[in-house]
This record gives sequence, C-alpha cells and structure tokens, in this order.
Amino acid sequence: MRSISIIFAVLAANMLVVSATVQWKDSISRFSTDLLRKKHRNQQTEKFSTIMNRLKPALAKDPTENPLYVELPMDHFSADNTDTISCRYFVQEAYYKPGGPVIFHDIGEASIGPYAKGLVDEDEFSVAIAKRFNGLLILFEHRFYGKSAPVTSTSRSLGTASRRQLSEFFKYHTIEQALEDVVYFAKNFTYDLEEYPTQVLTPDKTPWIWIGVSYSGARGAWIAKRNPGLFKATLASSAPVQLKVNFWEYFTAIEDALAIKNKNCSADLSAAARWLSDAWENRDSSLVDQLIDAVYERDWEESLEQYEADSDEIWDIRKDYLQDAAWTPFSDFQYYGVNGGTLGAFCDIMETMYSSRGDPDGVFETQTLSRAVTAYAKAVAAISPYSYTSRRQQSQRKEKRQLNTGSGSLDDRLDDYSWLWQVCTEFGAFQVANTSRPENLLPSFINVQSSIDSCISTFGESEQVSKAGPNVDPINEKYQGWYVQLSNTMWTNGEFDPWKALSIDSEEEDAPTNDTATTDIPQCGKTFPEGTQLRYVIKDGYHGSEFSEDVVTNSPGDLDGLDPTNTIRSLTATRTRTKTALTGTPVVDATNAQNLWFDAMSSWLPCTTLQFNLDGSLPETTTSAPFSSRTPFQTGGSDEAAQTSGSSDNINDKENAAPSLAIPSLMIPFFGSIFAFLAGIRVLV
Ligand SMILES: *[C@@H]1O[C@H](CO)[C@@H](O)[C@H](O)[C@H]1NC(C)=O
Ligand SMILES: *[C@@H]1O[C@H](CO)[C@@H](O)[C@H](O)[C@H]1NC(C)=O
Ligand SMILES: *[C@@H]1O[C@H](CO)[C@@H](O)[C@H](O)[C@H]1NC(C)=O
Ligand SMILES: *[C@@H]1O[C@H](CO)[C@@H](O)[C@H](O)[C@H]1NC(C)=O
Repeated sequence: MRSISIIFAVLAANMLVVSATVQWKDSISRFSTDLLRKKHRNQQTEKFSTIMNRLKPALAKDPTENPLYVELPMDHFSADNTDTISCRYFVQEAYYKPGGPVIFHDIGEASIGPYAKGLVDEDEFSVAIAKRFNGLLILFEHRFYGKSAPVTSTSRSLGTASRRQLSEFFKYHTIEQALEDVVYFAKNFTYDLEEYPTQVLTPDKTPWIWIGVSYSGARGAWIAKRNPGLFKATLASSAPVQLKVNFWEYFTAIEDALAIKNKNCSADLSAAARWLSDAWENRDSSLVDQLIDAVYERDWEESLEQYEADSDEIWDIRKDYLQDAAWTPFSDFQYYGVNGGTLGAFCDIMETMYSSRGDPDGVFETQTLSRAVTAYAKAVAAISPYSYTSRRQQSQRKEKRQLNTGSGSLDDRLDDYSWLWQVCTEFGAFQVANTSRPENLLPSFINVQSSIDSCISTFGESEQVSKAGPNVDPINEKYQGWYVQLSNTMWTNGEFDPWKALSIDSEEEDAPTNDTATTDIPQCGKTFPEGTQLRYVIKDGYHGSEFSEDVVTNSPGDLDGLDPTNTIRSLTATRTRTKTALTGTPVVDATNAQNLWFDAMSSWLPCTTLQFNLDGSLPETTTSAPFSSRTPFQTGGSDEAAQTSGSSDNINDKENAAPSLAIPSLMIPFFGSIFAFLAGIRVLV
C-alpha cells in the first residue's frame, strides 16, 4: 500500500522524465563518474593544493571558490528582446603570463561546479595546458546548466512546472544561441589581473584556445567553422558532430568490447533483451514482476493487487522500471568500458551465479528461463545504486529536505531537463534498440517512438518539440556533420567510445570513407590535402580519455612553461604508471593524445595568418588591426622580447606562419617532440 503510493507520487510528478531514461545518460554519468574519479585521486595523492601554497598572498584567492558571472543577451538574434541570461564561469589565473593564451574550457551539458574543484589540480589536463603555456584558464558554463539559468517559478520547481511553462522557459536554449554566447563572451572578456593590469585579453589581442569533450567538443568544431579565427586552436575531443535521431549505433562499441572480453555476458545481455521484448509485447508479467521486486520495490507484487490486473497504467510503470533495468549495465561504459565499471560488475555476478567458473555459452543458454532471470535480476540489483532511478530517488529526497528549509534557488534537476530539451529539439542521438540485429542489447520498447513520446510528454508539442522528433538537419547542414574540415583543429576519439560512431572517426557504414587521419600537424591556417585532418584515436580509450587521465608531470612545481623534454619524458613515464582498480585500466595511450595536443598548440599559437574573421564587427576599440599588436606567444624568455617582436605582423602575411616564425624555444620542442611522439606510438602499439 505504502509503496505503491510512493511509486505513484514519484511517477505522477516524474513519470515522463523517468521514461526518458536513456537519452540523457551522457550528462548524468559523466557527472557522477567524474566525482568518483576525483575522490579516488584525492585519496591517492595530495596534489590538490600544491599551487595554492605557492601563490603570493596577494594573489591567493582560491579560484575554486570564486564563481564569476557574465550577463549575455537571452536572444542574440533579435534586438527587440532585451532580456539577459547570466552565465557562470571560473578563472584560474595563477599560471598566466603576458603573451600566454586564454584557455577556454567548455564543459557543455553539465554544471561546472564539480569541475571547478579541479582548477587547482595540476594533473588535470586543462590545468596542465594552462601551466605549460602560461595561459589563463576559463571554465565556462553553458546556458541553462548549473547556475546559468534564470531563477523563475518554473526553474525553482521543474517537476511541478507545466509543459507550456517548460517550453517557454527553454525557448532560447538552442545550439546557435549557446554558440553565440561564447562569441559575445570572448569579444567582451575582461579580467582584472593584478600583476598585469594593462593586458588586453580579448581574442584580437590574446589567442584563445578551445578545449572541450563530447557535446562541448562538437561546439568547439562548430565555432571553428562558424567564427573562423576567434579561437586560434581547437581541441574537439570525442565530438559527435554528425547528429542523428536514431542512434542505435551507440551500442556497437559495447558489443565489440563484449565480444572481445566477455562473450558469455554478451550472449546473456542479448538474450535478456529478447526476453524483455517478448514479455512486454505479450504482456507476460510473471518473471517481469519478480525482476522489479528484486531490483526496485520489495512489495511490488503485493502492491499490484490494488490495481486492475494488467491495465495499461500498470504496464507503463513496468516499462519504466524495465527500461531502467535494461540500461543500467551500460550506464558508465562510455567512461570505464567493460572491466572498470557497472558492466564488468554485472557480468561477473551474472556469469558466476550458478558455477564459479561460469559457462562459456552464458546463463540464458544453459539454464531454465526462470533461473536465468533470477541471475539477471540479482546482477542488476547489485549495480542498481548506479541506475538512473536510484539517482533520481536520491535527488528527490534531497529536494524534499530543501523544500522543508525553503530553498528558493534553481531546481537540482535543471541539468537533466536541460539536456533532455536539447536532445528533444536539436540534438537527437536517441540511444535505442535495433532489434533486427542479433547482437542487439536493448529491449524493443526502448525505441525512437517511445523517446519522442517522452519528449512530448515532458515538454508538450511546441514550435521546437514535435511528433516528428528532433530536427537535426539544420545543424548538420550548417556545420557539415562528419564531413567538416577545419584548420587549427585537433580531433580525438576513444577506440571504444560509443560516441565515436557519430564522430569524424566513425566506422559505421554511412560514415565518410573519403577522408584521412594524420598525426602530422598541419601549419597554422592550413589543412592537408582535401579530407586529411589532424586526428587521433586513443587506443583502448573511452569518452574524453585524454581529459580523464592525469597528465604525467615530470616536476611538480615547475612553472616555467614549455620544457623541450617534457613530451619525451612523459612518454616514458607512462609505461611505468599505475592506477588502481576503481577507474578501470588506465588508458595509457591518452598521454600520446595529450602530447600531440601540446605540440599542436605549440605550432598554432605563434601563427598570425589565421584571420580574426567574425560575422559581426569587433567591439570599437579593437577593430582597427586584428592581431597586429598581439604579442607573440612566449615560452619563458624575457617579457621584453615578447613585447617587441611581431608588432608589425600583417594578418595577411603568410610568411608569419608557424615554421617561419623565429621562436626557437617553441620550434625546437615542436619538431623534437613530434618525432619522439611518432616513435613513441610505434613502440607502444
Ligand atoms: C560585446 O560584444 C558584442 C558583439 O558580440 C557587442 O555587440 C557588444 O556591444 C559588446 N558589449 C560590450 C559591453 O562591450
Ligand atoms: C564469462 O564471463 C566472466 C565474467 O564476466 C568472464 O570472466 C569470462 O571471461 C567469460 N567467459 C567467456 C568465455 O566469455
Ligand atoms: C538496424 O540494423 C540493421 C542491420 O545492421 C541496419 O540495416 C538498419 O538500418 C538498422 N536500423 C536502423 C533504424 O537504422
Ligand atoms: C567526401 O564525400 C562527401 C559526400 O559525398 C563530400 O561532401 C565531401 O566533399 C567529400 N570530401 C572529400 C575530401 O572529398
């Protein structure tokens, strides 16, 4: 009795959101796994406060505790609308020296709160970049995530807002508005540097560098196409640039990994998907209710007596639970793969349920259906703390406590709603079953139609959310999807990252075959022959592996910028490096991607041929001569040298491209390390 009323209380407010479990897993699992990783790392080392200790007292404001806000136009594309949206960002200034770049770390579809903690962690890739290049590091929060949204009655309580209120609230939450946010932010950027009060940090005077993973990696590529030259270099990591509504291919990477590592588990997950599909289609509740009972609700079967047997209502609730159960084994695969995360834990329990060594053919093949479902239920129950449902319940309990204390701030679930809005309107990428494939891992009821239904039941039908599903065409057409070709951009992907299937490195059937990857770094403003770009697929890597793996630093405390031997030493260090089991096997090859990026930045930063060519005009004060007075990138020599050279550079003067620019301290490590890098790969592969 009690439990059913709780279920309905929960589902009445949230059923629509619950049923949309699949498509927003990216942001949810990124968030929690990142925290796990940090926590673990914290226990292992005490690196966190190293730079804080070295800061001069006058500079010692803790960047992790100092959120800044910028007012941006709510609607960039209409002068009539004078509303604004306030976006949060954090700045790490400790490494900055004049001539150094602004490193713009875009977080994309998540609150930046947890990431801010990493601003004082020198093992963080973004911090290591700032340190190495004397950069000013900015963490930027995307509109409608974290604290970057208007506080209204709708956003204070998203669960109780009407559909109309939700779609009104998210009306200006579009890919284009959010890209223009960055343009506006960069052009107007000022920052009070106590040591260098006259330094101008806008992109016409200081090179801006984009780094981002996943959606924010794609954003980096889109900005590079849209506003060429605004960023002098772009790292588009694990960037799904080819948007698709039906993204069943998400699972092909998981299938591949399972086929290599756990054939029996692969067979069982496919069998479970078939069983769940049949049970749903035939309305056969017998074993299904046992599963729900074991994983979610102790009194589920008794509670059912209160309701008309097998009503659609009950089956809808069952479906929500089954979706969650079927998804949970894969919930963090994109970060940890088979062995490090929930999938490995699931497989170990499932496969050894009836014999300690397991059966190579799997449990569904060798046991009765009832015994197989029991094993499946136990294995799902064991990993259920990682399920979406369990996280949602936690956040609801938290919300209850907050309600009691009268909190008037943004709803905790803002990021979830916000990403769902993007998925439902422009992004698509529904991670669904493809039951015509024998390897399929999901039940048939996780499909495009049910995803669209969730969208409509959450946001209603509107100009932006329609029965036809998300409209991915405009973005694909404007930015050329996976055919896009960009200069000064490095693309990375993880070999086993499911999102790779939508990236420039996709191996799916419809992916480009007329393009080529190279690890030679093209000159500034150039790409190699048609179709050839700087790309690197990280061996055994996952989603954003070069960001999630620590940078191997050779001498902690060294603030003197680029060291010619860094790259080579890091490469050697990698092979002896160990990490414990929580994060799975370390992705050794991530270091090579990090180093390739360091080299690419070294090559592109000093170049002046990439035009600062924006759609609109620059702010008055800086239009006269884009980049002409920019101080060249400086790597630890005296400030004076940097101030004078390069002051007469002409933006159209091709001779100023990287190789002809005389900054030996830069060029030597560049050439030196690229060879070491390539040699290193050969050794490692
Ligand atoms: C900020 O930049 C935009 C151009 O993107 C410009 O229209 C606007 O006037 C700038 N605002 C300020 C305060 O400089
Ligand atoms: C069966 O699954 C177990 C547990 O995940 C795994 O250790 C074992 O290697 C698998 N065996 C086969 C033949 O796939
Ligand atoms: C499902 O997979 C089959 C076989 O790989 C493929 O031909 C088909 O296009 C896929 N379905 C969809 C909707 O893409
Ligand atoms: C590759 O093929 C696509 C689609 O036909 C085309 O748009 C693109 O220009 C081609 N790229 C190259 C480098 O030939």
